[in-house]
Amino acid sequence: MVRPVACGFNPYATSRMMIETETLMPTAEGLARAAAILRAEGLVAFPTETVYGLGGDARSDRAVARIFDAKGRPRFNPLIVHVPDLAAAQAFAQFDARATAIAAQFWPGPLTLVLPLRADAGLSLYVTAELDSIAIRVPAHPVAQALLRAFGGPLAAPSANPSGRVSPTRAQHVRDGLTGKIEAVLDGGACDVGVESTILGLVGAPALLRPGGLATEALEALLGPLPVGGSASKPNAPGQLASHYAPGAAVRLNADTTHPDEIRLGFGPGPADLNLSANGDLVEAAANLFHLLREADRLAAGVKSIAIAPIPEIGLGRAINDRLRRAAAPRP
Ligand code: TXA
Ligand code: MG
Repeated sequence: MVRPVACGFNPYATSRMMIETETLMPTAEGLARAAAILRAEGLVAFPTETVYGLGGDARSDRAVARIFDAKGRPRFNPLIVHVPDLAAAQAFAQFDARATAIAAQFWPGPLTLVLPLRADAGLSLYVTAELDSIAIRVPAHPVAQALLRAFGGPLAAPSANPSGRVSPTRAQHVRDGLTGKIEAVLDGGACDVGVESTILGLVGAPALLRPGGLATEALEALLGPLPVGGSASKPNAPGQLASHYAPGAAVRLNADTTHPDEIRLGFGPGPADLNLSANGDLVEAAANLFHLLREADRLAAGVKSIAIAPIPEIGLGRAINDRLRRAAAPRP
């Protein structure tokens, strides 16, 4: 079926208005449709190897404002800009020799770099929250790559979930949270990595701004021990808010035992209602994390809480524990 492209949705939709959310497959036709929606300042959720992102044209105030609106996200939080390769990234960020070497080694992949913003970057000020730095990443997922090339510009993309809730690793997760608020979801199946990208600050001394899908140890092998946190200019990021990634049910961490009113989310051998990885593989556990948090919430059925087995604080375990601590934090 041929659909009208540029005006296939209402460009004046507001947060109070429900819009039709299309599911697109990553065929030539689906990618062309997604790119046309993005060019008309609409929103398309798309798969990356970490989580699904909610993409909009990073040069468009209107598209970026709609991303914040669809997520219900506090407006002061800057977004990650997605580009297809290092050459494209160099149009927006200033790369010194150190940043170029890190990018050459880890891109495409689950690593975001925070770098000085180029004065001529031409991005919406909402993307960078008017900071003089930019968070930028080159995703490896073939569908993300194909979309970036079909669109031909930079995509601002936070995780495609309502602010504060569990991040999406499947197209259905995106539909569950954002149907009626975005124009389309590009369905690329389940995400391999399953937790958001690692964020490395390279404005001044290197700093780990968020543990994520690239093991911190891989960066420390090159850069030495990385301080956690960042400079005084670090924004108050949503991933740094106390309560985030929250399922509906209450969450108890480092649970060696399980109470009768709890659903057990296990790690490693032993009885559990659901298991992040029966043989204790942290990569598998990260890939399963957000899906199984949703499943546990479903089993809890509004009455039980969720008990989660201890996870070792190494490799991707650092990112898993970071997300779980926020999922368990007191809710606002
Ligand atoms: O894996 C990911 O990174 C996913 C996929 C979709 O790419 N995206 C993602 O975006 O997690 P988001 O918006 O949920 O997280 C963006 C993070 C926030 O913690 C934000 O504060 C930080 O990046 N950030 C953005 N710009 C920054 C800047 N200039 N300085 C420091 N942190 C920044
Ligand atoms: Mg997020």
